[in-house]
Amino acid sequence: MNILSLIVYLPLQILFIPIAIVGAMLVAYKQILVSKRLGLSMTAIEIINGRWTMHVFGMRDDDATARLAAALPNTSLSGLWATLFPLWVKYKISGRHAIYPRIPKPGSESMVDLVVARTLYFDSMIERNKERVEQFVVMGAGYDMRAYGHSMWERTKCFELDQPSVQEHKLAMLREANIPHDHVQFVSVDFKGDDIFERLQEFGFDASKKTLFLWEGVTLYLSEAEVRETLGNVRSNAAVGSVLLADLYANRFLGFAKKGANKKALDQTDEALDFGLEFTSDYEDTLTQFVQSESLTVGETHFMGRTSDKGPFAVVAEMKCE
Ligand SMILES: C[S@@+](CC[C@H](N)C(=O)[O-])C[C@H]1O[C@@H](n2cnc3c(N)ncnc32)[C@H](O)[C@@H]1O
Repeated sequence: MNILSLIVYLPLQILFIPIAIVGAMLVAYKQILVSKRLGLSMTAIEIINGRWTMHVFGMRDDDATARLAAALPNTSLSGLWATLFPLWVKYKISGRHAIYPRIPKPGSESMVDLVVARTLYFDSMIERNKERVEQFVVMGAGYDMRAYGHSMWERTKCFELDQPSVQEHKLAMLREANIPHDHVQFVSVDFKGDDIFERLQEFGFDASKKTLFLWEGVTLYLSEAEVRETLGNVRSNAAVGSVLLADLYANRFLGFAKKGANKKALDQTDEALDFGLEFTSDYEDTLTQFVQSESLTVGETHFMGRTSDKGPFAVVAEMKCE
């Protein structure tokens, strides 16, 4: 089946080159320019596009993401289909994930695998923690749909933190897509200066309850001082037994992502990259020292790309309040 899938895939991919180029341009136009026009985050679209792809390729059941993505004016599902159709046909024939999206061996992830790999690492850590917490706080939630469509979270107190423009837009799109969202409290914050616990408490957050905090894809847009401030706030305000899941990026990743077309795209929506850690050598020590300096304890970690000579390009880490 794998050989058959290649025999079908190769000519189809060649025939599809012009269609895929148009598709990619349409996706980029909606993601960057429509997000800019609407005052929204274009990086949040990057992530929902990746999660939609995982859903369509049978990697991760995420009907809520598919429904929200279909309602968003700042992405294009036809563009994604035009870009990915030959790969999808290959996947359907072989039943295997290869080229893109693929599930890399732990440690051998490349930057192209970032959204897929990190989503799966976060999923497994959320799954392990979810039964022992009473509140779920998604920080810098963007279009993350983890709190939706799962009966477990519908019985738990859920909060989403993000900028007002992103939250207003997400709420409008949730309504349009008819996705139940009354169990989620939307709390607008700016990680650059707001006291997030003061804001959370205004919306019914109970600091005495064990809480799962998810901070995915956000630290790299903040300064070291802002990241430290938030970690310190979690440590001082969250109940013992609470857990924060976050991804932190290597300086080498930031160096790469701050260049060329990527930088120009980020500039369109003012999403400049900032905080990184030096992971070239002794990366486990570097992470431990950083996390311990904010009085948190490192739990499970996934250092992505650690088999590279240059060290990992990012880590997905569990940080515990003990
Ligand atoms: C790359 S997206 C990640 C979205 C989501 N966590 C996910 O994984 O799907 C980054 C998100 O962080 C939010 N964000 C970035 N800087 C922020 C700030 N200073 N205050 C509040 N939210 C911020 C953006 O609006 C955006 O929704």
